[in-house]
Amino acid sequence: MITVSTHTSTQAFRAALLYFHQQPNAQHSQHQDCITYHSDGLLLVQAGKVLACGDYSRLQHLLTDDIPLTRFENKLLMPGFIDSHIHFPQTEMIASPAPDLLPWLENYTFPTEKRFADPAHAAEISEFFLDELLRNGTTTAMVYCTSHKEATNAFFEASHRRNLRMIAGKVLMDRNCPDYLQDTAESGARDSEALIQRWHGTGRQLYALTPRFAPTSTPDQLGRCSELAKTYTDVYIQSHVAESQAEVKWAAELFPNSRSYLDIYDQYGLLRPKAVYGHCIWLDETDRGRMHDTQSVAAHCPTSNLFLGSGLFDVAAAENSQMRYTLATDVGAGTSFSLLRTMDEAYKVARLQQHYLPALQLFYHCTAGAAEALGLAGQIGTLATGAEADFIVLDTHATPLLARRSSTANSLEELLFAVALLGDDRCIYATYAAGVCVHQRAE
Ligand code: GUN
Ligand code: ZN
Repeated sequence: MITVSTHTSTQAFRAALLYFHQQPNAQHSQHQDCITYHSDGLLLVQAGKVLACGDYSRLQHLLTDDIPLTRFENKLLMPGFIDSHIHFPQTEMIASPAPDLLPWLENYTFPTEKRFADPAHAAEISEFFLDELLRNGTTTAMVYCTSHKEATNAFFEASHRRNLRMIAGKVLMDRNCPDYLQDTAESGARDSEALIQRWHGTGRQLYALTPRFAPTSTPDQLGRCSELAKTYTDVYIQSHVAESQAEVKWAAELFPNSRSYLDIYDQYGLLRPKAVYGHCIWLDETDRGRMHDTQSVAAHCPTSNLFLGSGLFDVAAAENSQMRYTLATDVGAGTSFSLLRTMDEAYKVARLQQHYLPALQLFYHCTAGAAEALGLAGQIGTLATGAEADFIVLDTHATPLLARRSSTANSLEELLFAVALLGDDRCIYATYAAGVCVHQRAE
């Protein structure tokens, strides 16, 4: 029985509604058990959470005169997108050319991150970055900050003020980087612990231990990170692994006793649920088995991998090994904040390897699939009762071409496919976080 409270303001939204329960299978005609779709639906939101979601005809009796009703025509209301790997300090250096990951880091990334020693700069870029996420329909992201504690604080302050559900962490790096970004094993651990205590579970903020990647951490730093992970068992972990071949070779030289690049993290106990590893391109079957057995998560970053020429994430191998994976932008190596652009490139990367990714799966990986992988199933990435009301209103007719294509789509799969392949920030008509409109597209 649904009770509409008279004490807290309730809002109602009438639109086509879509959300996912489990990964739709490749035979996209048989997806009934995996999705909920209401062509004329009603979403009731109360105190920042979903109170009810269903057919308009079934729920309309709950509407009373004092409940504001917003109607979206030719729009699709769905959970906000979840970007599981992105760097907020790299916002301004997006689209900086380099022949490979390592020169890109040296020539653009590290000098750009240097400026975040200034907390005012960090605060300004945090605001721009969050605006950009919301403009692109992303309501949760797993965010790398810089090695500066204060820049990390600035990011959390900005996210907390907006009541967004963000996961972020201070980058740990105590070697093989410029002095101006280098922490020490001791200071990195101390700052991380202070940030965990300040932010993990404060409002909607969550903390991720963030060793940048094995080559920029000493064994001492990885050891201390491991200790923190054991002490704070519910924090996230994020890092990069097996992105470019030159990087893989370098990691092997630095850690000669590890069987593989992934094994470095494994040896330090850094593979576990809610540990998210960016790229995972150059893994072997043993690595994928470890990813699966430890319930670690691979973040597939197609726009970044194509941009830097890092390689092609093997979706078929990921699925065969049943390891968890999500989609992510990896801005600033990623070339777009839009998870629609990211779906487009993920689709094509799969096609290049003779694999087929249905649109329903692409949208699942950016919503309920990511929530599940991040241990937030039922909380975000869904419109089910009790979920946090983070949702987007997708304009499936946002451009003249998309309007024409959408109007001839014969199924939900075809419609979503067109939006994924042709869409971008123009398709995000509005974004809501905890029931509050945080972005409305300019007309
Ligand atoms: N590996 C280590 N640091 C980075 C980074 O900032 N971006 C990417 N794409 N890969 C990395
Ligand atoms: Zn990255």
